[in-house]
Amino acid sequence: MVIKGTISFPGDKSLSHRALILASLCKGESSFSNLSTGMDVSSTKECLIACGINIISEKNKTIVKGGTFNDPNQKLDCGNSGTTTRLLVGLLAGRKISATFIGDASLSSRPMNRILLPLAKMGLKFKSENKRLPIRILKSELTGLDYKSPIASAQVKSSVLLATLGANEETCFKEPILSRDHTERMLKYIGADIYFKNNKTILKPLSFSLSPFDFNIPGDPSTAAFFAGAASVISGSNITVNRVLINPTRIGFFRILERMGASVKYLEKKEEVGELIGNINITQRRLDGVRISAKEIPDIIDELPIIAIIATQAEGITKVTGAKELRMKECDRIHAISKNLTKMGAKIKELDDGFIIQGPTVLKGAKIETFKDHRIAMAFSIAGLIADGAILLDHPECVKISYPDFFVQLSRVCK
Ligand code: S3P
Repeated sequence: MVIKGTISFPGDKSLSHRALILASLCKGESSFSNLSTGMDVSSTKECLIACGINIISEKNKTIVKGGTFNDPNQKLDCGNSGTTTRLLVGLLAGRKISATFIGDASLSSRPMNRILLPLAKMGLKFKSENKRLPIRILKSELTGLDYKSPIASAQVKSSVLLATLGANEETCFKEPILSRDHTERMLKYIGADIYFKNNKTILKPLSFSLSPFDFNIPGDPSTAAFFAGAASVISGSNITVNRVLINPTRIGFFRILERMGASVKYLEKKEEVGELIGNINITQRRLDGVRISAKEIPDIIDELPIIAIIATQAEGITKVTGAKELRMKECDRIHAISKNLTKMGAKIKELDDGFIIQGPTVLKGAKIETFKDHRIAMAFSIAGLIADGAILLDHPECVKISYPDFFVQLSRVCK
């Protein structure tokens, strides 16, 4: 079997959340095509609708009519989505809304203090036990903030920036390593007063209306990574991903793949709505293990599960450190990777902040515990393609969180 063909993916998840959120603040109608089909983005859409925003989905188009936010008369269910929760808490704090946020078991166990702390400094009043969901935010007057974030998290940064739009002073936000910068780029594109200076993002509150915008959202590079990963470990494979987001903060995976020895080519680059878009061609080559340290982690945070699978097929040692954040995702991904790869016969050592893998190994079939985490399910499906024996996922349906069509499209490129 080889992985071959040309494929395109539904719109990037991070961009889709932000397109819906920022369009809700614009004066007029914004129109989006190729919005992410995953459940996470549906959660954001439903929460915005519950706050009185008019969003219409028809065929491959989503139309958002920006407008006034109302206190929702139901709890805002963020499902499994950390991005929905953290961005909407910031947005609604800035809109002076009272609302209660809830989520599923995984989301309810994830840390929210990372946003509640800076938002409280801005003046947000809230109620929450243990700084986790459920969270009730109360109508509050917000001030600006001069904040040095202890973690490189785009969700924290975006939460604070969205709150600032409704504050009475500017915010200056600094993070240890630049995290994905979509909120900043999109805000700039629609006319917000935002700039980046001395490694700090400075944003002024809204004193005028933002311009509505249309966006054909480029494919999700984090979804493409599973297919590119499969192509990189199956001899004779070659795949082209069309019209995918190639923002530098999002293609860390492809940089690592190149460093391991794969051939990665970027074609037809262009800019739309402040974002870089292009096609990526990946050809299988012999791979070597690599060292990956803290400064690279934000750019590959969602791709580390598939990187671990690829590392089992590379010659020598792959060592990932500085990735403790991986324990705070939809599940503890360091544990999930180590446990499942061990079952499959890989040589892996779990570290507090990463893992060490010695390759190459022939993986064995095994029962995979997904922890209902979409990226664990997809990464181990790729492991299943190269394993000697079948793998069985305990919750294959969790791929719907980001890519409901995952299995159909994977079988389409397996030839
Ligand atoms: C996201 C940011 C990242 C990423 C998540 C999406 C975003 O989380 O893991 O899948 O859209 O802002 P952190 O900001 O917590 O690193």
